[in-house]
Amino acid sequence: MGFLSGTRLKLGSRFKRSSIASPARRSTDSTSRAFLQTEKCLLSKWLPSLVRVVGTHPFPLDELFAMAGAFEYHRPELVVDIGTHLGKSARVWHEVAKWLGEPCQIHTVDLFDPNHPEFPGKLLGQFISGLPVAQHLGDGHTVAREILLASPGKRVLLFLDGDHAYETVLRELQLATLLRPGASCILVHDTFYQPGASYNHGPYLAIEEYRKTFPFRQVVHLQLGLPGLSYLQV
Ligand SMILES: C[S@@+](CC[C@H](N)C(=O)[O-])C[C@H]1O[C@@H](n2cnc3c(N)ncnc32)[C@H](O)[C@@H]1O
Repeated sequence: MGFLSGTRLKLGSRFKRSSIASPARRSTDSTSRAFLQTEKCLLSKWLPSLVRVVGTHPFPLDELFAMAGAFEYHRPELVVDIGTHLGKSARVWHEVAKWLGEPCQIHTVDLFDPNHPEFPGKLLGQFISGLPVAQHLGDGHTVAREILLASPGKRVLLFLDGDHAYETVLRELQLATLLRPGASCILVHDTFYQPGASYNHGPYLAIEEYRKTFPFRQVVHLQLGLPGLSYLQV
């Protein structure tokens, strides 16, 4: 990996298989089954061990399930996670890669901005401390673009959980053009949509706008409650 505009803190990629059986490996380029056709029983058996590590906030059970399911479906070689904060989502990618025994480079990026309302201070990346996850400081879109351009053709899982403003998410969604079609996906957090509510609809509306021009193979909005998660298959 070459130089990045953000600060690169840690990197590694070796994992051991965990004791709970994981779903068998299969073709990762097949579009013959939809994303939600995951190995739910095996995932359900493993999920409590993930909950013991990351808890159920900010990702409730159904969202942890969908995150793990998307990973199991795509078997990404590269994860780019925008919005490190405490590092819980990055830790989810680490844990699920370890469970599946998949070598996967995991990158996470956050601003280092003490004036940002969500700045976690010393707790930034707490959940991935000492783990083989590359932690970057910088703007999510800028850093993610550099990582993706440096790794063409890989199966990628891109996770958007940084600034939730409509314009920011719309810009980040345009990274879809750098992803390998038929093999990659984007997950967007905080996409619950309820017209008229004061909840931030930026991420949901950005997806609905961008899909008018970008031909996602599949779009699933998990509308089971707040905060909400959406899956976009590239
Ligand atoms: C809701 S938190 C993310 C939670 C995190 N994924 C986790 O699992 O712990 C949002 C984070 O996005 C960061 N953020 C805001 N704008 C950003 C940007 N342009 N690029 C990268 N990170 C950004 C904030 O600093 C904050 O830490």
